[in-house]
Amino acid sequence: MQASRSEAQQVLPSQSTLRAVGLEIRPITPTFGAEVRGIDLAHGFDARQFAAIHQAFLRYQVLVFKDQSPMAPAAQIAFGRRFGELHAHPAAPTHPDHPEIFVIHTHRDSKIANGNLWHSDVSCDECPPMATMLQLHLLPPSGGDTLFASMYAAYERLSDPMKGFLAGLTARHESEHVYRGRYADRGVDDTGRVFPASSHPVVRTHPETGRQALFVNPAFTTRIEGLRGRESRLLLDYLFGLVADPNLQIRQRWEVNDVVLWDNRCTQHYALWDYWPHERRGHRVTIEGNRPFHRAQ
Ligand code: SIN
Repeated sequence: MQASRSEAQQVLPSQSTLRAVGLEIRPITPTFGAEVRGIDLAHGFDARQFAAIHQAFLRYQVLVFKDQSPMAPAAQIAFGRRFGELHAHPAAPTHPDHPEIFVIHTHRDSKIANGNLWHSDVSCDECPPMATMLQLHLLPPSGGDTLFASMYAAYERLSDPMKGFLAGLTARHESEHVYRGRYADRGVDDTGRVFPASSHPVVRTHPETGRQALFVNPAFTTRIEGLRGRESRLLLDYLFGLVADPNLQIRQRWEVNDVVLWDNRCTQHYALWDYWPHERRGHRVTIEGNRPFHRAQ
């Protein structure tokens, strides 16, 4: 039996436990998001600190680690591996020596910016990544924030009849239209490459917290299966609109070397590209996830 919402929240470490492991966790809103202080991930962490971070990650969905040093690729990879196997991106250019690292880089000559629309990372995969960790090393003088939205909160906004209707539905997530040619300006030749597409439940049960989250996003979700074309379009437009509600969002205003860890199973994000012609650069790792499922509650 999975934990209920309140159980998931109860597993949070107490303030005294956090103090004992040197961590300070400050919520960004009551809904989700938290800033974490007292640990510099570049210098490692012990098992008790990791356990507290993991619990906070499940409760807050997005963790922002402040006051960080630049993480060497090996340290960032090691942190990601504490959560699970690392996920290989189906299209993006990787670090020349560390294929686990996706180099995020936008500059004056970029034709497109990564993540510049609402999405959950690589939801087109059969087993989309459970989490993503991004550290930005170079920031534009202004702009370049990342927005996050809680898909638990979006789901909880729905009426009971709508929740009931969505419970039985699956949606198609495709990526050809997202990835084909996308990284050509960074030297990626994707001729002949086949990009992933998968069907996932519209409402996904989080495998660790047991909570229900809306799992459709405007980047990858192309249709709801079993509905007529117009029915699917209208319903998706309505569901996509929920993510745009600022009451369900937090906004990450980056400081150099911040590390942000987000849960792709219950959040979406949107990387703003409002800083052209300036440059923004960092390293991202993603952690493999399960095949999404829906369990009625
Ligand atoms: C992404 O992983 O979608 C990019 C996030 C960002 O650059 O802020």
